[in-house]
Amino acid sequence: MSDYDLVVIGGGPGGYVCAIRAAQLGMKVACVEGRGALGGTCLNVGCIPSKALLHASHLYEEANGHFGQMGIVAEPTLDMVKMQTYRSDQVKQLTGGIAFLFKKNKVDWIEGWGRIDGPGKVSVKTPVDSDKTLTAKNIVIATGSEPASLPGVDVDEERVVTSTGGLTLKAVPRKMVVIGAGVIGLELGSVWRRLGAEVQVIEYLDQITPGMDIEVCKQFQKILSKQGIEFTLGAAVQSVEKGPRLTVSYKNRKDDSEGSVDADVVLLATGRKPYTSGLGLTEAGVKVTDRGMVETDANWRTNVEGIYAIGDVITGPMLAHKAEDEGVAVAETIAGQHSHVNYNVVPSVIYTDPEVASVGLTEEELLDQGRAYKVGKFPFMANGRAKAHFATDGFAKVLADKDTDRILGVHVIGPSAGELIHEYCVAMEFGAASEDVARTCHAHPTLSEVMREASMACGDGAIHA
Ligand code: NAI
Repeated sequence: MSDYDLVVIGGGPGGYVCAIRAAQLGMKVACVEGRGALGGTCLNVGCIPSKALLHASHLYEEANGHFGQMGIVAEPTLDMVKMQTYRSDQVKQLTGGIAFLFKKNKVDWIEGWGRIDGPGKVSVKTPVDSDKTLTAKNIVIATGSEPASLPGVDVDEERVVTSTGGLTLKAVPRKMVVIGAGVIGLELGSVWRRLGAEVQVIEYLDQITPGMDIEVCKQFQKILSKQGIEFTLGAAVQSVEKGPRLTVSYKNRKDDSEGSVDADVVLLATGRKPYTSGLGLTEAGVKVTDRGMVETDANWRTNVEGIYAIGDVITGPMLAHKAEDEGVAVAETIAGQHSHVNYNVVPSVIYTDPEVASVGLTEEELLDQGRAYKVGKFPFMANGRAKAHFATDGFAKVLADKDTDRILGVHVIGPSAGELIHEYCVAMEFGAASEDVARTCHAHPTLSEVMREASMACGDGAIHA
């Protein structure tokens, strides 16, 4: 007899969702988490605290900007201590919420760091008692990811920070250099710029946010530059020297010339890597890829019977919602149900201002595949609601099959893009054509009308452009 039907290692969005779903399906479940709080990177040092700071810094900027135009006279001052308290309060409430959900669903939270001691066996290094061994019919590895390091850059989480330290700075740096123009660099770079820092982003590639639809990407860079973020593209950071200030040295890729820039804080945001240290994967015989990701089949099974893996630790985009969907699906699979995740319809969002959101294929991917497609675009400038909100930067772009009109990809840069995209996620799940969205009544005045008009532009044409 095993102690549990399922032991999940890791209490982030993949692991905790998996544990709850499995308990709802009648399994006896434990979730091993050693961080001292549930919710993983996302709730503790990722999505949630960054969104709190993005929200607060956005309002601060609005108060210094558009408030005056709307007749609101305010002279905001910044209380960094209070803003950071607001951030950590949000985190506490939400991580406490997961602990409550565990109790409600009778999931045992085993506090400590888990290690697989062979099929069906997990030992836990607990902070208080002596180590525990749990036996389980099934094990799900949901240990997530950690920031990737960069040679020559010594992270101390005070002056040279990753996303973790970048969320908890006690004061606004005069100058921040961000290494990497990916999601983390641009979101946190935006936070500190809005609060008053001079921000320079140094990126290895010749474009920001690799993988994004190029047209959106170009517009995004233009808007961020207009907001005051400086970009140095095509430059590989070599080192960060620590003196009274920090000196970031880089090499320009096109001619190998060297450059350097001083900073008060450096944010290292060059990607994340799977977190598997101390898990005992080698001893347990669980196969990992060259890049350290746990190998799984289409049903999240590893090569060892009864051991599964989901989320950032396996292949695919490192996104909380992708991990959550896999958490549900693997729980259902273990319960003997047929479950699946539609990886073609996983939205991605960058929570800057404006937001950037996309789902499905980019125009470049369609060109690569040699597919015949049509494009419908509509600008936020032509939308009444966006105009009233001073939020006219950006556009929505719908890509549909030239013959069948089936929606293949949607890319939006504009206000609330991260919410607007979901209309198309549902449409794509139902295999909709762009005409289906174009013929659906949308309330006026809403930002969603931009989404409809982009679909109209795929057919006979938008009305308001
Ligand atoms: P990223 O992979 O998005 O971007 C890293 C960037 O660093 C790339 O553009 C890369 O070319 C550049 N880079 C690498 N080495 C460099 C060097 N030596 N010098 C200059 N540039 C260099 O990684 P990021 O932003 O760290 O995010 C990590 C993960 O977290 C991503 O998978 C992301 O999807 C996820 N995430 C998602 C969020 C969201 O959905 N809103 C928010 C935050 C993170």
